[in-house]
Amino acid sequence: MKYLMLRSLETALRRRASSSSLSHLSRRSYSSGSNPERKVAVLGAAGGIGQPLALLMKLNPLVSKLALYDIAGTPGVAADVSHVNTRSEVAGYMGEDQLGQALEGSDLVVIPAGVPRKPGMTRDDLFNINAGIVKSLCTAIAKYCPNAIVNMISNPVNSTVPIAAEVFKKAGTYDEKKLFGVTMLDVVRAKTFYAGKAKVPVAEVNVPVVGGHAGITILPLFSQVTPKSNGLSDEEIKALTKRTQDGGTEVVEAKAGKGSATLSMAYAGAVFADACLKGLNGVPDIVECSYVQSSITELPFFASKVRLGKNGVEEVLGLGPLSDFEKQGLENLKAELKSSIEKGVKFANQ
Ligand code: NAD
Ligand code: LMR
Repeated sequence: MKYLMLRSLETALRRRASSSSLSHLSRRSYSSGSNPERKVAVLGAAGGIGQPLALLMKLNPLVSKLALYDIAGTPGVAADVSHVNTRSEVAGYMGEDQLGQALEGSDLVVIPAGVPRKPGMTRDDLFNINAGIVKSLCTAIAKYCPNAIVNMISNPVNSTVPIAAEVFKKAGTYDEKKLFGVTMLDVVRAKTFYAGKAKVPVAEVNVPVVGGHAGITILPLFSQVTPKSNGLSDEEIKALTKRTQDGGTEVVEAKAGKGSATLSMAYAGAVFADACLKGLNGVPDIVECSYVQSSITELPFFASKVRLGKNGVEEVLGLGPLSDFEKQGLENLKAELKSSIEKGVKFANQ
C-alpha cells in the first residue's frame, strides 16, 4: 500500500514536472550524476509540512546534504528519512543549540516553522506567534549561512518575507535576489482547479498567480492560462479565482481544527525548492511565481513570475496583459498587501 502510494506520488510529481522540474524523480535518475554538492536545511522539519517536505527533498538528486531542524522531534524524522536510498546524507538537529550546525554551509534554507490556522482564523491571526519565530530563525541564517537562498513558507507570507528582509538588512547580509516567499501552492491550486473546470490535461496547464499569499491578495491570471479554453464564461473564471483565493481555507475547514494544507504544500515547496536548486546549478529558463522584492508595482514586495539563476532571482518578470477583471483584482489587493508589508517591517524594527 505504502509502495503504491509513493509510486503514485512520484508519478504525480513527474507529470507536473513535464520536461523540467522534478523530472528526476524516476528510479533511474537517483544517482548524483554530475550535480554539484548542495546542502538544504528545512526549519520546522518535524511539522505537518516539514515531514513530507523532508521526504520529497530526500528524493531530489540535486541535494547532497539534508539538514532537518526543529525545536522537537527531528531525531526520529531524520532517522526515518535517512533510510531512503537516495543521494543525500540526512542529519537531524533539535533545539536552538543545534540551529547553527543545521544551517552552516547551507545553499538553500526552507522555512515551514510556525503555527498553522484553525477554522475561523485569517493568516494574519498567525502573525503574533510566527513573526517572532521567523525573526529568530532569520537572525540565525544571517549568522550561519548569510549567502543561502531562503524559501519562506511560514504564514503570513505577506508579512514574514518583509520581516526576513529587515532582519537581513540589520545584519548587513540582505540580498534581495535570495529571499523568496513561497506562493507555489497558489499556482498548484490554480492549475488543478482550472484543469478540472476546462477539462484539459492538468500536467499541461500553466497559469501565473501574482500579488501575495492571503485571500484577495492572491490573484490568478486566468487570462494568461495555457492551454486556453474558450469555453469558460466570465462567471466561471470569477468562481475559479475565488476558489484559488480560498484554497487554503477550503483545506483548513476540511481538516476541522487539525491544521492547514501540509501535503499539497510539501509538494509545492519541493517543486519550488527544486526550481531554486536548478537555478543555482545554472539550468537555463527556470521561471516560477514567487513573492519577492519587486518594482513591477508600487508595492515593495509582490508575487509574480521570476526567472531563477545562479544568484537566485535573475529577473522579476512583468505582469503581462491583464483582463479588466484582473486589473480590478490588482487594484483591490494593494491596500491589504501594503499594510501586511508595513506590519512586518514595523515588527522587525521594533
Ligand atoms: P505544524 O504545526 O504542523 O508544524 C510546524 C513545525 O514548526 C512544528 O514541528 C514546530 O515544532 C516547528 N517550530 C515551531 N517553532 C519553531 C522554531 N522556532 N524553530 C523551528 N521549528 C519550529 O504546522 P504546518 O502545518 O507544518 O505549517 C507551518 C507553517 O506553514 C504555518 O505557518 C502555515 O500557516 C504555513 N503554511 C504556508 C503555506 C504557503 O503556501 N506558504 C501553506 C501551508 C502552510
Ligand atoms: C494555504 O494556502 O494553504 C496556507 O497558506 C495555509 C493556510 O492557512 O491557508
